[in-house]
Amino acid sequence: MSKPSLIITRRLTDAVLERAARDYDVKLNADDHVFSREELLEHCQSVDAVLPCHSERFDADVLAQLPDRLKIIANHSVGTDHVDLKAAKTRGIVVTNTPDVLSDATAEIAMLCMLGAARRGAEGNRMVREGKWNFWSPAFMVGRQVTGKRFAVLGMGRVGQVAAERARGFGMEIHYHNRRRLPAELEKGAIFHDSVESLLAVADVLSLHCPTTPESIDLINAERLALLPDGAILVNTARGALVDERALVEALKSGKLFAAGLDVFKDEPGGNPEIAALDNVFLLPHIGSATFETRDAMGYRALDNLDAFFAGREPTDRVT
Ligand code: 8YV
Repeated sequence: MSKPSLIITRRLTDAVLERAARDYDVKLNADDHVFSREELLEHCQSVDAVLPCHSERFDADVLAQLPDRLKIIANHSVGTDHVDLKAAKTRGIVVTNTPDVLSDATAEIAMLCMLGAARRGAEGNRMVREGKWNFWSPAFMVGRQVTGKRFAVLGMGRVGQVAAERARGFGMEIHYHNRRRLPAELEKGAIFHDSVESLLAVADVLSLHCPTTPESIDLINAERLALLPDGAILVNTARGALVDERALVEALKSGKLFAAGLDVFKDEPGGNPEIAALDNVFLLPHIGSATFETRDAMGYRALDNLDAFFAGREPTDRVT
């Protein structure tokens, strides 16, 4: 029997590509550039499946032009905001994602962002690297200690729960808001808030872990930033779209926020030059899931979903 044909849009790990080549008739993106819309469509014309990353946009227009033979988009990401799920459903295209396997790696980056922001990691690092560290005093480079502070999780899904667990390890008190309250065994003593506003009022550190939907775009805007305790810290390892970056810059400049630790931005790759010009930010280039272990696991998970689909089973991580 011939193997299903599959386009893998980006360079995945060797182990994942080997397994993919064993089980599928694979087309690769040799130089790992981001496909233009036209290239994406062209490459998709002659395949049964596509394994994309969040760098490829499948909007309604792209989805409408996919060939009938293409039946599944098996994402190498937990986020699916780059795919118009409604349009995929209308076309009868199955969409899957890669939950669970990246929760630990992303929670680690949330902790790095939190500590980097609280303890002025970027400023200190820059000073030493640039040979500008020529002074020390007890009042020098003083930051915020997170021990005993309130860690507020907005979106207590898989990543949010692991981030809460890690923050507990720093002696923080956990608060959260989620669409649904978690059962006690998952809550683990965390304090539930039934509104975003109520959570913000206690957020010494606000960590974003909710998905991007039309309703959550710019969720963290000027009005909501004003509800945070003075000197709060914002951590974003979810999606840049959740934050109104103009309002964030204002809050960082005014001192309303002590600092922000950000792994994601509205504009990627690249980020936001106005944010990057500030001292009180700790910034990373969207590397939440970028560990050797997790990249393998994400690739395998996407392939597991494809295997199930082509074996006539329900893919574990079907989102539509
Ligand atoms: C990855 C992510 O950077 O899973 C997600 O939604 O944003 C990250 O894990 C990326 O999607 C890898 O393809």
